[in-house]
Amino acid sequence: MDSFEYRNGRLHCEEVALSKVAERFGTPVYVYSRDAIERAYLDYAQALEGHDALVCYAVKANSNLAVLNILARLGAGFDIVSLGELERVLKAGGLPEKIVFSGVGKQAHEIKKALGVGIRCFNIESEAELERVNQVAGECGKIADISFRVNPDVDAGTHPYISTGLKDNKFGIAIGEAERIYCHAASLPYVNVVGMDCHIGSQLTEIAPFMDALDRLLMLIDQLATQGIQIHHLDLGGGLGVCYTDETPPTPQTYIAAVLEKLGDRPLGLIFEPGRSIVANAGVMLTQVEFLKCTEHKNFAIIDGAMNDLIRPSLYSAYQDIIPVELRQEGEVKAYDLVGPVCETGDFLGKNRELNLQAGDLLAVCSAGAYGFVMSSNYNTRPRVAEVMIDDGEMFAVRARETVADLMRGEVMLPKGH
Ligand code: LLP
Repeated sequence: MDSFEYRNGRLHCEEVALSKVAERFGTPVYVYSRDAIERAYLDYAQALEGHDALVCYAVKANSNLAVLNILARLGAGFDIVSLGELERVLKAGGLPEKIVFSGVGKQAHEIKKALGVGIRCFNIESEAELERVNQVAGECGKIADISFRVNPDVDAGTHPYISTGLKDNKFGIAIGEAERIYCHAASLPYVNVVGMDCHIGSQLTEIAPFMDALDRLLMLIDQLATQGIQIHHLDLGGGLGVCYTDETPPTPQTYIAAVLEKLGDRPLGLIFEPGRSIVANAGVMLTQVEFLKCTEHKNFAIIDGAMNDLIRPSLYSAYQDIIPVELRQEGEVKAYDLVGPVCETGDFLGKNRELNLQAGDLLAVCSAGAYGFVMSSNYNTRPRVAEVMIDDGEMFAVRARETVADLMRGEVMLPKGH
């Protein structure tokens, strides 16, 4: 994890002891490092220097306004999937002409707003969506720049829930149908075909599936050229994995070098949509041990963080390291299941973890910057937690902890009893 390290037995984010963050903001709490986010983005940007390329951060991975603003200041583009994400990006200072709009079910009002602000490209996922974009653009008196998300039918070799490039996934248009659909799009009055995109899955730890997809898309681009359809940019989506435990994913530099080599001197602009690889290892979630419950069969550490705060372990059986905020010399290391207060057997953040614990200890759930807070919920009427950014040795609350009153806002009781 970048920017998180022990100093004299105490876990720090940059110069700030994480125990101080817990003291000031309570737990559970997400803590992010501005420096780590910036470095991860610059890894992409620098590897692409001198090329016609845009890094569009996938907002879904972590959509906090402070995160978006940090990236906007560095000149990032953004990949959005909803009107909500569009509003966030604009509020955070992102430029409309650097926004691409992905997602399988874009609604007419979302398309209209995106056209109104002048986004760069709609990544279209079906023929029905093409018709809708063409119609809405016509009604608005605009011409929409579009790309098709082509499903190349490659196996990304990742968890089935986050693998998206196989032909039985809901995403994109089938590669075998792409030529016909592109030709149809070229005949429509209110869309302008500019690109081709794909996204084959997330947390990929090998380059090979990306390269297979790229080969297939380049063949398709050549085939379209013979029909008089010029593709100006190729958007390879996101998906580059990170190290959660012992994975060794390629670095952005290695991945991009391989892509550039394959492209040779083709006059193709490039777009990438990384999410996880920008933010995952730039964040942790701090949680406190409430009780230890040691039974004959198992040791449980009951912590104040739960599946509603971080759902990846429950939903995908995802492994995220869990480490003490302060290292302890005395005491006994035991294997614990780290479980939350939510009333579900599936409510755990880690199983069978070797830790030396006492009630009251603080723990850091690692690699929690991506798909952490954004996937949290209010299940069990648990307020969503605070988010804190460490910037230059200072801590900033970039999202206040919700209150129970926040959770009940908008709810009403029926006016009359029986
Ligand atoms: N572009 C598109 C069209 C996507 O669907 C996604 C992610 C990305 C980019 C960013 O992918 P990344 O670089 O983050 O892999 N909740 C899951 C991950 C779901 C990813 C969905 N799509 C998790 O916690 O592992």
